[in-house]
Amino acid sequence: MAIRNPEIKYKELFINNEFVKAESGRTFPVFNPTTGDAICEVSEAGPEDVNKAVAAARKAFSNTAPWRTMDASERARLILKLSDLMERDLCYLASLDTLDNGKPFTESLCDLEYSIKTLRYYAGWCDKIQGSTIPCDGEFMCLTRREPLGVVGQIIPWNYPVMMLAWKWGPALATGCTIVLKSAELTPISSLYVGSLVKEAGFPPGVINIIPGMGPVAGHAIAHHQDIDKVAFTGSTAVGRKIMGAASESNLKRVTMELGGKSPLVVCSDCGDLDEAAELCHTAMFGNHGQNCCAGSRTFVHESIYDEFVKRAVKLAEERPVGDPFDEKTLLGPLVSQTQMERVLGYIEKGKSEGAKLECGGARLGSEGYFVSPTVFSNVTDDMTIAKEEIFGPVQVILKFSSMDEVIKRSNNTEYGLASGIITTNINKAIMYAQAVQAGSVWVNCYDVCLPQTPFGGYKQSGHGRELGKEGLDEYLETKTITIKVPSKLYHS
Ligand code: NAI
Ligand code: MG
Repeated sequence: MAIRNPEIKYKELFINNEFVKAESGRTFPVFNPTTGDAICEVSEAGPEDVNKAVAAARKAFSNTAPWRTMDASERARLILKLSDLMERDLCYLASLDTLDNGKPFTESLCDLEYSIKTLRYYAGWCDKIQGSTIPCDGEFMCLTRREPLGVVGQIIPWNYPVMMLAWKWGPALATGCTIVLKSAELTPISSLYVGSLVKEAGFPPGVINIIPGMGPVAGHAIAHHQDIDKVAFTGSTAVGRKIMGAASESNLKRVTMELGGKSPLVVCSDCGDLDEAAELCHTAMFGNHGQNCCAGSRTFVHESIYDEFVKRAVKLAEERPVGDPFDEKTLLGPLVSQTQMERVLGYIEKGKSEGAKLECGGARLGSEGYFVSPTVFSNVTDDMTIAKEEIFGPVQVILKFSSMDEVIKRSNNTEYGLASGIITTNINKAIMYAQAVQAGSVWVNCYDVCLPQTPFGGYKQSGHGRELGKEGLDEYLETKTITIKVPSKLYHS
């Protein structure tokens, strides 16, 4: 059951298993996007707090610290304990995310369930991360060890507050790294509560540190830090660029990034049931209000079914229940902030002025909160801004195509390459598309299926590295090669 006015219990930085004020004493307001009202003030980390959190994480990573001497199976037990505590407090945590982000409570619950599944999946890996023995040339025995990278900085966005934390903590903890997490300034409250669960679960101090703060201040300090071994980032391409630059200017820390996209979802003439196809594309676009890095934000529809498809897409958009995100019937709540709402409305204006046909929606709803009506554009061409840039809002862009060859080229004609999809009953078309499209995920007759077991990440400017699955672990590991001289003399003694 949703809790409409959840008590906000933790508002300070979580460093070394304690809640502490920022050194500067600074705080920042957290807003409820459904009303625009402030919820509370949260401590704001500055560079000195980043230093404190990094020092705690470094100490927790030292060779003799409990975290490093602990059996890997015991590490798994701690992660499982944390997952159980998150499950115990599922409704409370989901309510915090709905209050802070504005996403429908049903979606927050779903995020929580996947977060817990992700942590449990990675708990299973702790004592199964193995190196190899290598039959090398010469009188040597050679083996490799997979070792944790060290202290990792994690900078997460506001669109899936708890889930982004879980995607980043799972592999970091499974491999034995220690963590400094900066939550997004728009949604800091749920992660602080998870901090209290970290302590309750029994993690040693310093293994996980959580510091809410501003991107250009605390985020900047993490990216430039000399004693952080890796930064994992999810957010905009513009900030991703800054983080890579910071890594190169500071200590060449490893960087993995997930940076969003402009993902094609292709509806073929042989898609089967057109109602179902329209529904799939609708959900692919409007889920999480379109504030989703892998949203199916370029809907390509075959010319032979285009008009019929558009009619259905418009009906679905017009009927999407908009309103109070705590109401279980609501599928579209407010966008996360006034800035995001204005950005999205700006894109809608661009769409209209560049000649796309506005089929429905296209405006702010009401004057309280940051609601934008579900919007559909047809007659969109590839050169229009709304077909090229990430809108990150409830705006479906429907393009027309006539051949597979053409739609493959157009799908790939983007600087992004995060996700893609195709709806067809012809297996050959599905295989052909899946092989030719330049994207980290291809979904055939489904969309946005991100599972803990399967790798996720971007081609091109959608990012570097992979999260989830076994590949997610590699991003938190170093490989050490140990070569041992075999004393051949002993054979003859
Ligand atoms: P953003 O990229 O500014 O924010 C993401 C995270 O990066 C936040 O934690 C923020 O504090 C941090 N950050 C910001 N500046 C930083 C800096 N200089 N150094 C280190 N960290 C920094 O994203 P924003 O402004 O909230 O949203 C803008 C657009 O970015 C959205 O409209 C969307 O297109 C894209 N975006 C993509 C996301 C994804 O899931 N891939 C998530 C959030 C935004
Ligand atoms: Mg908020």
